[in-house]
Amino acid sequence: MLESAPGGPAAPVPLAIIAAVARNGVIGDGRGLPWHLPSDLKHFRAITMGKPVLMGRKTLDTIGRALPGRETIVITRNRGYEPPSAGSRGGHIHIAFCCEAALDLAQARAKALGAGEIILAGGASLYESLIARAGRMHLTLVDLAPEGNVRFPAVNWAEWVETGRLHPPPSGGDEAPFVFAEFVRRRSSL
Ligand SMILES: NC(=O)c1ccc[n+]([C@@H]2O[C@H](COP(=O)([O-])OP(=O)(O)OC[C@H]3O[C@@H](n4cnc5c(N)ncnc54)[C@H](OP(=O)(O)O)[C@@H]3O)[C@@H](O)[C@H]2O)c1
Repeated sequence: MLESAPGGPAAPVPLAIIAAVARNGVIGDGRGLPWHLPSDLKHFRAITMGKPVLMGRKTLDTIGRALPGRETIVITRNRGYEPPSAGSRGGHIHIAFCCEAALDLAQARAKALGAGEIILAGGASLYESLIARAGRMHLTLVDLAPEGNVRFPAVNWAEWVETGRLHPPPSGGDEAPFVFAEFVRRRSSL
């Protein structure tokens, strides 16, 4: 059983979105990421390391393996789903058959791991379903407008405040400029 803090139950571990989003809202083309940004992949690794990472089955298909050092919770409706093997670099894949089960499992794993947040890593269908539950967004704003039929959902920016923006120096191999921007949900004034 999870320990409760004196005076009340343990606070839930917050859910944070991580996404790389182009100027036109595109995040993917159904096969993967429509750009080559090694610096953003390093950023993704740094933000997600040691945390439970939720993702849709199609996103895991594009990655093709477990993320080393992280517990991935893949969401699928397919009861016969067989995830890719972890591979030699470790990592673990859990399966959940609905968003609520995935969030419950992520809470338990975050507490067991001592992780400060649960990461929602896409794709579009999961961002759409769970953005209302997220308290933070780690967004990479990519200065491209690629073709692609997978888009980040509409965001009500009045609900969010930007808390930081980093302009990484140009790095060899990155195909376009981008910034790392952090947003947190405004506290309700009610
Ligand atoms: N730029 C970025 O930061 C970023 C991040 C992540 C992904 N992407 C891109 O986004 C694309 C994939 O996104 P997507 O929206 O097409 O797919 P997705 O969200 O990754 O996966 C969709 C699948 O998740 C499962 N699913 C979704 N909602 C569910 C629910 N409520 N209950 C149970 N299962 C559920 C279903 O799997 P089953 O069909 O198995 O039932 C569904 O087909 C790829 O191109 C990927 O590269 C981009």
